[in-house]
Formats: sequence, structure tokens, C-alpha cells
Amino acid sequence: MRPVVGRRILLGVTGGIASYKAVSLARLLAQAGAEVDVVLSRAAREFVGAITFEAVTGRPVLGGLLDEGQALAHIRLAKAADLVVIAPATADLLARAAHGRADDLLTAVLLATRAPVLVCPAMNDGMWAHPQVRANAERLQSFGYAVLEPAIGPLAFGEGVGPGRLPEPEAIVAHCARLLQGTTPLSGRHVVVTAGPTREPVDPVRFLSNHSSGRMGAAIAAAAWRRGARVTLVHGPLAVPLPIGPAAIAVETTREMHDAVAAALADADVLVMAAAPADFAPATVAASKLKKGGEAPLLPLAHTPDILVGTRAARPAGLVAVGFALETEALEANAAEKLARKGLDLIVANDATDPDAGFGIDTNRVVILDAHGGRDALPVLTKDEVAEHLLDRISGVIGGRQG
Ligand code: CTP
Repeated sequence: MRPVVGRRILLGVTGGIASYKAVSLARLLAQAGAEVDVVLSRAAREFVGAITFEAVTGRPVLGGLLDEGQALAHIRLAKAADLVVIAPATADLLARAAHGRADDLLTAVLLATRAPVLVCPAMNDGMWAHPQVRANAERLQSFGYAVLEPAIGPLAFGEGVGPGRLPEPEAIVAHCARLLQGTTPLSGRHVVVTAGPTREPVDPVRFLSNHSSGRMGAAIAAAAWRRGARVTLVHGPLAVPLPIGPAAIAVETTREMHDAVAAALADADVLVMAAAPADFAPATVAASKLKKGGEAPLLPLAHTPDILVGTRAARPAGLVAVGFALETEALEANAAEKLARKGLDLIVANDATDPDAGFGIDTNRVVILDAHGGRDALPVLTKDEVAEHLLDRISGVIGGRQG
């Protein structure tokens, strides 16, 4: 993941049931290309051994403030870190950090560092609800720390379900990436992305749809969020998990997607139509299931609304509009025609017959055309890489509009 590659992340682990999940977090961060320095509190060592973290990060694990030869470890670590993340953060850590204590290596690092800090509290739901704990979390936020709300879910054995769970390591990694990215041209912008197919009902049990998985749109939404945007993802039924970060609005039909996009556009800065909405719907929807006895039915079809065209009047001034074109012939000529007809700034053209591009696979080979005749033919890339390229281009258009 681009913002994480080559960055130095200090992972502080404090002693709670969720400490074991910090091993997966350390591993994911290291796999994403970060250098991970793990600092374990004394209590954390009772839950997970240092050797486990050393094995997944390939780096020594630190512990005590005054360990042999480590007298200035807190200063060295604090200066080297691009990001400090504390996961899990116990109620005790929140209290000590909120009050400027420096009685162990981790709290000393917190005072010494100027890097962004992400705190991930995890504890029993009753403790998390206590005003003392909430006040400490709020105090940390007032110092500029990012505090990730605990997830709602099963707590420690026998403790039932409630808010207090450490969010999944993948979610913490996504937050780390967003913090590492710093300020970008998309920071604070509202980016609306569509993804996936739509479904047009035939009768109560059948529908017309297409092979779109939503992978490209989900990758764009995730990457825009990592760049600091507020992202609304309007999506049909997806074959991939929802990305972490964007606000998701689920729709079924092209009409519903049209209406959701129109509503989201009110304060949008960017629209990326990566969805493959169905272009036709049955002219009428049968009220009861079509039975197979007798003649096979003929289905008269009607056009669905074109979302880019139909919402054009609702675009705020200065909005950057991006479409996709999936073609089986005359790729660039058809894409250029759609760019003009749909009033777009950029269009991403891909060939449905190319085995490296299209629905349901991880890679894409695209040509990005712009409204001024510019043409950018990219090699075969993963959909994540295409998303990053496209966001670079969108950032360029935003920059051009400001300048
Ligand atoms: N699109 C849209 N509303 C539709 C269908 C498509 O806004 N009802 C958007 C797509 O999300 C994409 C762009 O329009 O960004 C081009 O989609 P594509 O399917 O390539 O073209 P169509 O306009 O559907 O034309 P055709 O199917 O004839 O190629």
C-alpha cells in the first residue's frame, strides 16, 4: 500500500485480551512495506511474547524504559517514527497518556515524538462507557491524536457483545495509511464513487444484471479515502468486501443509483462513475413469479436513466466528473465520444475483450483520456494501482482549477 511502503511505524502494544490481534497488525504493516518497531508494555508481555512480534516484523522488540543499553531508546524511536500506533490501548494507557505520564517506554515515546499518533482503545464495554475513560480519550483527541472508536462485537469469553472490541487489523492498517498520507489535494474533499452492477427485477425472484464485481470502484473509493477525502460509495451488489472508510450507500436498480448519486452530488467535489449500471430493465415487473409452464415469456425492455447525463444539471460548479468506458471495439473513439456526450473531465477506457482488463479480475489495462485531447495509456496494472493513477490525474485537474 503506497503510503505505508518504506515508512517507519512504531507499534505500541498494551496488555489486554486484544493484544494477540496486534501480532496480525504488525504482520500486515510489515507485509505492506513498513518498518515496524514494536514496543510492548510490561502487561502486554503477559499476553503475547516478544519473540512472536520479532518473527513477524524481523526487528527487535523493545520494552523497558531503562533496559540495558536502551537509555535513550525513547528519543531515538520517537524521532525515527513516521507514525505511532497504539493497539490495543488499555484504559490504563489512555489515562497515563492523557496526563502526560512518562513512566514506561511507550508513554515516554508519546511525549517525545512529533509524528502523528493513532490510538486504538480496546476494553470491556463497561469500562469504555465510563466517563473517566471517555474523558481521557477526548483529551487525547484534543492533543491531535487520532482515536479509532472500538468496534461493536463479541468481547472476551463470557463477556457478551458490545462496543469495546479492537477493530480488525485491516481497518487499523487503512487508518495508518490515511494518517501517513498527510495532506493531499483530496484532503477534506467530498468524493462520490459508484461501484458494481445494478439489478433490474423481472419478477419477485429474478433480475437482469451484468458481470461487474465492483472491484475497480471499491479500489478508487478506498484510495480516495486514504488520501484524506470524505468518500461516499454508492454501490450495487458487490462481489468484493466494502472498503474501510467510505460511507456506503447500497442500491439495487439503476434508477435507485441515479437518485442516490443525485443526492450525494449536492456538496461533491469529484464524481467517479465506476459502476456498470444496467442500461435496460424489464418494461414491467411481474407481480408474481413467472411460471415455466406454457410458452416461454418474451421480456420487453425499457431504457434505464443514464446516470452521468441525468445528474449533469445537479453537478456543483467546478466538480471533476470522471467516467469509465468498457468497449469491445473502437476503444478510444467510443470513449472520446462518451467523454464529450457525458460532459466529463476524464474517461478511463478499457477493452472488454482484453484478458488483462475488465470484470472480475485483479488487473486492468486502461487508457485515460481527458477533455483537452490528452491521452495516457497505462501498462497492465492492478486495479489498486490504476486507482492511484486515476486519483493523481483527478488531483491534477483539481490543482489546475485552483491555479
Ligand atoms: N453510465 C451511467 N448510466 C448508465 C450507464 C452507464 O452513468 N445507465 C456510466 C458508467 O458508469 C460509465 C459511463 O457511463 O462511467 C460509460 O458507461 P458504458 O457502459 O461504457 O457506456 P454506456 O453509456 O452504457 O453506452 P454503451 O453501453 O452503448 O456503450
